[in-house]
Amino acid sequence: MSAAREHFGSRIGFILAAAGSAVGIGNLVAFPVAATKSGGGAFLLVYALFVFLICLPVMMAELALGRKTEKDPVGAYRQLSGSARLWHIPGWLALITPFMIAVFYMVVTVWVLGYMVEIFKGNLTRLATEAYFGEFINSKAVFIYLIVLMAIINGVLSLGVKDGIERAAKTLMPILFVMLVALVLFVLTQKNAFVGVNYYLIPDFAKINAEVVSKAMAQAFFSLSLGMGIMITYGSYMKKQDSIPGSAKAVALTDTLVAFTAGLLILPSIFHFNPQIDPATLSDSSAGMIFLFLPKIFLSLQSTIGYFGASAVAAAFFFLVFVAALTSLVSIIEVPIATLRDERGMSRKKAITTLAVVQFILAVLCAMSFGMADWLTHFVQIAGSDKSFFDLVEILFYDTILPLNGLLVCIFVIYKWKRANFDQELTVGDSGFAGTLSQKYVNFALGTFIPVILLLIFINTVALKFF
Ligand code: PFF
Repeated sequence: MSAAREHFGSRIGFILAAAGSAVGIGNLVAFPVAATKSGGGAFLLVYALFVFLICLPVMMAELALGRKTEKDPVGAYRQLSGSARLWHIPGWLALITPFMIAVFYMVVTVWVLGYMVEIFKGNLTRLATEAYFGEFINSKAVFIYLIVLMAIINGVLSLGVKDGIERAAKTLMPILFVMLVALVLFVLTQKNAFVGVNYYLIPDFAKINAEVVSKAMAQAFFSLSLGMGIMITYGSYMKKQDSIPGSAKAVALTDTLVAFTAGLLILPSIFHFNPQIDPATLSDSSAGMIFLFLPKIFLSLQSTIGYFGASAVAAAFFFLVFVAALTSLVSIIEVPIATLRDERGMSRKKAITTLAVVQFILAVLCAMSFGMADWLTHFVQIAGSDKSFFDLVEILFYDTILPLNGLLVCIFVIYKWKRANFDQELTVGDSGFAGTLSQKYVNFALGTFIPVILLLIFINTVALKFF
């Protein structure tokens, strides 16, 4: 068996690592795109309500599960459910989900890395052409970048929780904040920037409908890295003297601020590029935004700051996204590592190597889903249309199982582990939380309407994606 459990060295270390997990492609790209298309300030409001009233309690529940048991998700559910074997299933789901999400997220991160390198090589003009993306994702270079990416992630993970994950977060997160702010300040000085800011912030409540609300909820849930076993695992490395409610609030706030700030980068850029643009015509997908649209925007900057300047801004942006994705991937791959260590008694090195082999194979299959192999491109038929292997992983794990996992966490914590035990864990390291209105709210919400909302999202997704 492994030695004494590792812990994060400091509270700020934990907060930065958890924020590193939460801040990802979801914040930097998916959020601004969703906000733009769905009512600007009105979407922001709905999103913020979801983050703080619904997702934050779920985050506290996940952290408490982890810290109480000092185990990976499989071990945490097993320990607290005793002989009720049905309750072991959410533990396994909280293992498979991050494992598979990591696979498809790794592929997108590989593309980000590839684009970044190409920009450094002076190829921004090529990147900004329509055909380039298709060529790039079907080139052999993708596999080289995948190896590089996996070497970086697993290199960090092999150093352990404190010297690897925490140290990387403490170094990278401040860099990310500074670069984001610098890019925003630069973009705001560009022509038509404020047309974009207005579009982003002026609320259009007419756009808020059931679909938008459900999108905001799913986005908030994904953005906070919930339902993926990550917060259970990171919670298991939290020290007893640290406050779960306080740290969770700090993480949620940081994540939301970064998402909000990213909007101040993306929107002004779009409107600088084309002040007449109708954002409704923008692609829904983050990938479309990052790889097809943004390179054109960056290239257009050359008329004001020259080709070198435009390339520098583009490189900074891709580096930003890369760093955000890297700290997210580190957190998600730590989940199965923790499981192999806690449940199988493997050493960290052995767990990393075992996982890396399987993940590499699956990531290669995902990467080949875009035309390199026909059987992967047309892997299954869902709701009458062909889906690739990549699509299948995304639909199954990201769209569908994520809200299900969240739902199971709430029900488990309140009705199986029991309210009183959960309450008690929340006050460990934060005695002031006991009896507060916040505590009563968290306790009530997790046992009532939060699982109902997550259930509705789950049903809605199944209906939408599978029928
Ligand atoms: N919070 C992350 C994001 O917004 O991009 C979600 C995430 C995705 C975490 C993938 C970890 C990960 F590997």
